[in-house]
Amino acid sequence: MSSKRKIKLGAILHGVGGNISGWRHPDAITDASVNFELYKHWTRKAEEGKFDFVFIADGLYITEKSIPHFLNRFEPITILSALAGVSSKIGLVGTLSTSYSVPFTVSRQFGSLDMISGGRAGWNVVTSPLEGSALNFGKTEQQHPSHPERYKIADEYLNVATGLWDSWEDDAFIRDKESGVFFDPAKMHTLGHKGDYFSVKGPLNIARSKQGQPVIFQAGASEAGKSFAAKWANAIFTGQETIEDAKQYYDDVKGRAAKLGRRPEDIVIMPGIGPIIGRTQEEAERKYEEMANLVSIDKALDFLGRFYEHHDFSQYPLDEPFPELGELGRNSFQSATDRMKELAKAENLTLRQVALRVATPKPTFLGTPESVADKLQAWFESGAADGFIVGAATPRGLEEFIDEVVPILQRRGLFRDEYEADTLRGHLGLPIPQNRYTRQVVV
Ligand SMILES: Cc1cc2nc3c(=O)[nH]c(=O)nc-3n(C[C@H](O)[C@H](O)[C@H](O)COP(=O)(O)O)c2cc1C
Repeated sequence: MSSKRKIKLGAILHGVGGNISGWRHPDAITDASVNFELYKHWTRKAEEGKFDFVFIADGLYITEKSIPHFLNRFEPITILSALAGVSSKIGLVGTLSTSYSVPFTVSRQFGSLDMISGGRAGWNVVTSPLEGSALNFGKTEQQHPSHPERYKIADEYLNVATGLWDSWEDDAFIRDKESGVFFDPAKMHTLGHKGDYFSVKGPLNIARSKQGQPVIFQAGASEAGKSFAAKWANAIFTGQETIEDAKQYYDDVKGRAAKLGRRPEDIVIMPGIGPIIGRTQEEAERKYEEMANLVSIDKALDFLGRFYEHHDFSQYPLDEPFPELGELGRNSFQSATDRMKELAKAENLTLRQVALRVATPKPTFLGTPESVADKLQAWFESGAADGFIVGAATPRGLEEFIDEVVPILQRRGLFRDEYEADTLRGHLGLPIPQNRYTRQVVV
């Protein structure tokens, strides 16, 4: 039945992966993060699997301790524009920071990607957790905006971006050779924005695409992040590991959105998962151990440090309780570092245990294809998720998920057999936003 609510699926394309030592796995392709052929292959594969979208994550600051994928990878808009040319249905979502860019350029880039791809673009709005990013943009680390200010900037930024995207009404371009009329000036709109952070006249020099505007994604789970998401996001990535936590987050954000007058079904909530699939539970466990064993404790400490402004954790004893860090980490990945500190306290974990858990988390979705499908179904049906963003936890993980888990979801009527639409908004069941200059005001 076509009207039945269906699971949404996105695929993270992240080269050699999110595991700090994953590139050493026997099946890993070591140059995967800059291997265009591979990105094309994964995109086509995800499209064959009828995924809603592929996703390219991003960050703006690396050190010699960053994970290998972060050291040498494609800029999102660039790779997504290239992938638009080798695909026709699948959505193309990329991360771009509102703290280190300007709205006119970014609106134009996503507007262009949306037009090039026929309405398949999505923007994961992040505020740049790493203060070192400032050093790449002519500023000092002290000038990196604070966590609350980053979200204030992002709010004004989105106001500007969504305004610029409405610069042209859909029938503004007449292009009549006979009369010599190219466009109707009454249907061109100048934003004229002057705010605390940005001053942008407009109009934007690209019109709306088939889906109206690019889809706004968001992934911050702090209080400020959740309020921002409830106001602006069409889709949200989250990081909860248990069904209870995911459900709580889901109800919280949808509740905040409803209070702002939004329809809860207009926000698609997608926990990030890194499934490991085996023919048996034991085989899946073995695959996990194989990945986990690649990670040394030194590498795990480096990985942990990134969440805490590149703090050096090698100064603490490994087998004593996780150190007291006070406010450290709250100005960067706030929700993630708060969660780690709470977990360490609740379970009385040592530094070694926290570092290894963070660097090689045991996936919640680990087992046979049937058992992974059962779990996805349980999360989906119990109101913990509208879909999932799938990142491969092993080199062949994405393909295994597409070949072995997706058909089960399809047989159960939980996932589409064919695309019903050819825009990202269409896949996600999101309405096309009306142009703000022609919107009817209901009184
Ligand atoms: C699936 C997923 C993807 C994410 N992708 C990115 C990314 O590409 N770049 C980034 O800086 N943060 C990314 N994040 C992290 C958040 O966007 C955010 O930066 C971080 O949680 C800090 O925000 P907060 O303090 O509001 O929680 C991602 C999180 C999740 C769960």
